Amino acid sequence: MKFFVDTADIAEIRDLAATGLLDGVTTNPSLVMKAGKPFIPLIEEICSIVSGPVSAEVAATDFDTMMKEGLKLAKIAPNVAVKVPLTPAGLKVCKTLSDQGTMVNVTLCFSAAQALLAAKAGASFISPFVGRLDDIGTDGLALIAEIMQIYESYADFETEVLVASVRHPMHIVEAAKMGAHVATCPPNVIRQLYNHPLTDKGLAAFIEDWKKTGQTIL
Ligand code: E4P
Repeated sequence: MKFFVDTADIAEIRDLAATGLLDGVTTNPSLVMKAGKPFIPLIEEICSIVSGPVSAEVAATDFDTMMKEGLKLAKIAPNVAVKVPLTPAGLKVCKTLSDQGTMVNVTLCFSAAQALLAAKAGASFISPFVGRLDDIGTDGLALIAEIMQIYESYADFETEVLVASVRHPMHIVEAAKMGAHVATCPPNVIRQLYNHPLTDKGLAAFIEDWKKTGQTIL
């Protein structure tokens, strides 16, 4: 499973990229607003830090303007994935840009029917939002299972399932068990993956016992 970080915070991206475990970045207008920096240079900088896909979202909702924005974003760097909303116009942009060889991430997916359309439109990534479905009392992970089942039935679908709106490590573990290709996670959720109290307890005991041996390795 690939890990993308869901943030536009440069310091967080640098820190996680240094682990060697980061495969890409996703941003959205809300995350860009939080970062408080001009959009185009921000995406440029992120693309210089991470060599994997960096999702940059269009702001318009009509086909012509989304196309212009998408073409401008795609020119920033070869690893930009243009992010479009799952609307009829968004999927038309997806088909056009995908046919031209540009990576497209279709966002705001909340149903298997929508995911099916995105695959047919040639999306590189489909982003089902598990956390936001959980928030309204439905099972976000059940949607991932459904999409995986559909995509696995068609060998010609090349769209990767990018689990989005991740709230906690179990979202990632359960999605990985289903074979989801990518999870995009807030920085704190990626860091939570490392944690287990028995690791901390075991390490503390090993440190104490090693001290008692009076030895050094170096
Ligand atoms: C996906 O690409 C989105 O940026 C993101 O995962 C949305 O998550 P949220 O529901 O926590 O805002």
